[in-house]
Amino acid sequence: MEDYSSLKERAISILKANIKEGYSKGLRKKYFYVSPDRIHYHQWFWDSCFHSIVMANVHPDYAKRELETLLSVQQEDGFIPHIIFWRWRIRDRFQKWWKKEVNEKISRYITTEIQPPVIGLSLLLIYEKTGDLEFIKRNIDRVEKFYNYLAEKRDPDKDYLVSIITPMESGMDLSPQYDLPFENFEHDPELTKKKITEMLKKYKKWGWNLDKIFNASIFDVEDVAYNTIYCLGLYAVSELYSHFDREKAERIGERATLVNSKIIEKFWDEEEKIYFSISHKDGKEYSMKVKTISSLFPLTLELPPEHLTHLINHLTNEKEFYSPYPVASVSMDEPSFGPLTNTRYIWRGTSWINTNWFLARGLQKHGHNDLYEELSKKTLELVSKFGFSEYYDPLNGKCGMAMRNFGWSTIAIELIDD
Ligand code: GLC
Repeated sequence: MEDYSSLKERAISILKANIKEGYSKGLRKKYFYVSPDRIHYHQWFWDSCFHSIVMANVHPDYAKRELETLLSVQQEDGFIPHIIFWRWRIRDRFQKWWKKEVNEKISRYITTEIQPPVIGLSLLLIYEKTGDLEFIKRNIDRVEKFYNYLAEKRDPDKDYLVSIITPMESGMDLSPQYDLPFENFEHDPELTKKKITEMLKKYKKWGWNLDKIFNASIFDVEDVAYNTIYCLGLYAVSELYSHFDREKAERIGERATLVNSKIIEKFWDEEEKIYFSISHKDGKEYSMKVKTISSLFPLTLELPPEHLTHLINHLTNEKEFYSPYPVASVSMDEPSFGPLTNTRYIWRGTSWINTNWFLARGLQKHGHNDLYEELSKKTLELVSKFGFSEYYDPLNGKCGMAMRNFGWSTIAIELIDD
């Protein structure tokens, strides 16, 4: 077995170097978090969730403080923003996105969008690493409240699947599947960017009122990866509650099972034998038929054995997702695959460590140990050779314009077998 101890040390030192700590005059709160890279000064929702999982190995107190900082800006209705600007007001393009209905003061420092709800899983993994039930008891209600927000405010058709209202809410910003709701069938990323800006202007005009937004259905997407992560979060919260509140554990567990079955039922595409997200327009549903990393996410859930076999075939196909440096975020046989690293059009094929981690966990869960080990090894090889970068070229591993010493890529060390 290879000795990865120096890689582990490097990962933790990157996270420590990216710590931002202080008092925010604007938000009137103390903060402690790891920023995605050293230069940028904001806290990002799902980045923080990944950081805390890795940090919990060595500095559990840091991991807990990072999550509690994130939870500290939760709104009355359960909403938690995708970015928090602890040091300064939202400027430039972000400024246009203020959410009117939240407290005017706070709204200058937080965005109006959400991100994939990894937080339930982070809480569970921190518990598994530390056994600190007091920490869980202190925070689990707020995490549950966020999941309730998603169920109550983000599921207009009440089918148990959550809708995102902008591509950025998926965390996979310019993934080509999101060209489709904008009727950009030629997959020109510049056109999608333009359409997003036009849409955000309208959202701002509507004060980010969700009724208006869903009525207009410019972008109302039930995303496969988003809903899978939501479901994993519900399972995690249920498991945590089972230590001290049976009734809640059961109720949330039932909801997780329901969401799980809806994902299988609504997203499966019998022709392509893969899962596709759904776009809603004027009361109709459209399957978003672009094979992206999102399509593989149900690998981490309970799913019919034949679906699992098909997903693994897609994942390991060298013409689809299994590039020399896997896993490509868009299937290589899609016309929309690329451009890759020398551009800021992100998520159009580049490989990302955080999504590899999810898929590797899925393989392990279903007992595909050889494949789990292979993917883990390839992921570790990527970071050993090219450093902890924001993303990688799936064909040659290079990093192009990606940020270096990047927080969430340290989650690769979770795949070390010790
Ligand atoms: C990019 C990613 C998003 C991430 C953010 C900060 O916008 O698409 O998922 O949270 O950068 O790392």
